[in-house]
Amino acid sequence: MTDQSAFETNVWTLTRFVMETGRQAKGATGELTQLINSTLTAIKAISSAVRKAGLAHLQGIAGHINVTGDEVKKLDVLSNDLVINMLQASYSTCVLVSEENKEAIITPADKRGKYVVCFDPLDGSSNIDCLAPIGTIFAIYKRTSEGEPTEKDALQPGNQIVCAGYALYGSATVVAMSTGAGLNFFMLDPAIGEFILTDRNVKIKKKGKTYSLNEGYAKYFDPAVTEYLKHKKFPEDGGAPYGARYVGSMVSDVHRTIAYGGIFLYPANEKSPKGKLRLLYECNPIAFLVEQAGGLATTGTQRVLDVKPEALHQRVPFVVGSPDDVEEYMSFVKKNQK
Ligand code: F6P
Repeated sequence: MTDQSAFETNVWTLTRFVMETGRQAKGATGELTQLINSTLTAIKAISSAVRKAGLAHLQGIAGHINVTGDEVKKLDVLSNDLVINMLQASYSTCVLVSEENKEAIITPADKRGKYVVCFDPLDGSSNIDCLAPIGTIFAIYKRTSEGEPTEKDALQPGNQIVCAGYALYGSATVVAMSTGAGLNFFMLDPAIGEFILTDRNVKIKKKGKTYSLNEGYAKYFDPAVTEYLKHKKFPEDGGAPYGARYVGSMVSDVHRTIAYGGIFLYPANEKSPKGKLRLLYECNPIAFLVEQAGGLATTGTQRVLDVKPEALHQRVPFVVGSPDDVEEYMSFVKKNQK
């Protein structure tokens, strides 16, 4: 007898899922479906490049510093070019904001469509050379203005996101994506080059057992963070202390947080008064996805998705995860404000 599980004949690929949900959406023109499919092509190509980076000599430093001060690696450059080219070739974008480009990229007039995309083509790139997991993050918005598109079209709060996702190039490549009707995970099957739906309507645990942050900055933490961490390590209620996990690649740390529960923090500190992570293409898409899974995302004092962006590469303090854990963190912030 044939093993049916090894050869599923009616698989839900991500392309099928996107087409199906696109058909169900009222007034849909197919433009978003086209855009998501082009994004997935870029992700597949990046995944393939990541897998053979060592062999293809894609590791190492490309030689310049990007707009936010990180060293640019060869894979960063390649991934950025891939995403920009694929998005513009979808005929559905007008403004692109990339972590790697200081200015917004305006799509040539003959290729324009109605969507704005903010993305980080290769997040966690300091991890490339040691083969730790890295990722791609994106958020899609509908343009709201008329006339020539400008960078202002990208300064929309995260609560206007139409679709967001990330790809994690880990022990397997997974895409987590949402169009606002729940969070789904799709695993890349390299044999057929398709993302297969593996986890539908993912929900984060109400409370986890793990905290995740760069504790090396403890000297610079504000009292709320210090006190919160002390509470996690030496619980006064007799509970077990939390475990600590930190990869230093946000997509990886966030994916684990969604899968197992817990809290991920990149708060402000004395050295980085606004935190490190960027609102438009790191915090907003991740906040959207975590909220779709029933979690919370805060700056400490405000819902991340409600922050009104003022600049393309703006940073915000970022705390995200299981609802009970994030609420507990916020209570420490509140207590320390008095
Ligand atoms: O913003 C890039 C990034 O690599 C994130 O993926 C990650 O969470 C963070 O920086 C790590 O920063 P640090 O080295 O300060 O802990």
